Amino acid sequence: MHLRQIGDTKVSAIGLGGMPMSIEGRPDESRSIATIHAALDAGITLIDTADAYHLGADEVGHNESLIARSLASYGGDTSEVLVATKGGHLRPGNGSWTLDGSPDHLRRACDESLRRLGVDAIGLYQFHRPDPTVAYEDSIGALRDLLDQGKIRMAGISNADPDQIRTAQQILGGRLASVQNQYSPAFRSSEPELRLAESLDIAFLPWSPLGGIKNAAELGTTYQVFAQVAREIDATPQQVALAWMLATSPTVIPIPGSSRPETILASAVAVDLVLTPAQVSRLAQTSTREPS
Ligand SMILES: NC(=O)c1ccc[n+]([C@@H]2O[C@H](COP(=O)([O-])OP(=O)(O)OC[C@H]3O[C@@H](n4cnc5c(N)ncnc54)[C@H](OP(=O)(O)O)[C@@H]3O)[C@@H](O)[C@H]2O)c1
Repeated sequence: MHLRQIGDTKVSAIGLGGMPMSIEGRPDESRSIATIHAALDAGITLIDTADAYHLGADEVGHNESLIARSLASYGGDTSEVLVATKGGHLRPGNGSWTLDGSPDHLRRACDESLRRLGVDAIGLYQFHRPDPTVAYEDSIGALRDLLDQGKIRMAGISNADPDQIRTAQQILGGRLASVQNQYSPAFRSSEPELRLAESLDIAFLPWSPLGGIKNAAELGTTYQVFAQVAREIDATPQQVALAWMLATSPTVIPIPGSSRPETILASAVAVDLVLTPAQVSRLAQTSTREPS
């Protein structure tokens, strides 16, 4: 498995996104555990989660608990696995996603995530999404305090614009480890954040790298150049999308979501795919939807 860097920690160049195993359409627990164990078997050492990956309001942290149980029941060594969780989003249980970026909430949420993950310090704690009712500086100030208290080992942000990245880096005293934004063949508008993260030596974690749970299967029909390159290198369009992202910048670590062992195993293979500069440039130019 090829490795990339988040802060001081080396992780697999592709991570596992845990969301499809805990929200609408999730599989039964045994399939989820098999998926996480398959990821570990493939050498994946980054698992992305959030306290808000759940359905009902009575099961906050469903995904964190699932990951903690899966790590505990895995036969092999999990000491190198970085679990990256998030706080700042809430799901009241009616399908919506609400926000609370207040320092009080983030402090409480972090304590709950620590308990569910069963660790003394969270490997990477990410502020999930800016809350327009709370000054960004205050939300990030809470992360700085959690770092200073040793409750989190690294701090990251998500859904941030370039100004927010700079603000976070300043408030954290240069300790911002990662930025997690939406980025995929369908969604390229995070390029400025990606390039800024690269220039600051901060990891960039594309979320929904395959276009999201509902669209991932159609990637090759919606963006035909991905299917064309896939045929050229005997891969799938989804693998080509991940390989293309990896080729975009050494700071990129995609976190494709999975709810089946087959899909995370297929994604792990993408780290070994080699694209020519001409293929990367053809893929990069697909900024608009192409007719299928
Ligand atoms: N920070 C944020 O605000 C935010 C927002 C959204 C997501 N995220 C994170 O980003 C992760 C990824 O995003 P996502 O799950 O929304 O979307 P995604 O990764 O674009 O797509 C996920 C879907 O792709 C399918 N898939 C995965 N690998 C595949 C492969 N190699 N070939 C074919 N299909 C494949 C999976 O199918 P199966 O289910 O059948 O396995 C899964 O349902 C999430 O899990 C979550 O951790 C963060």
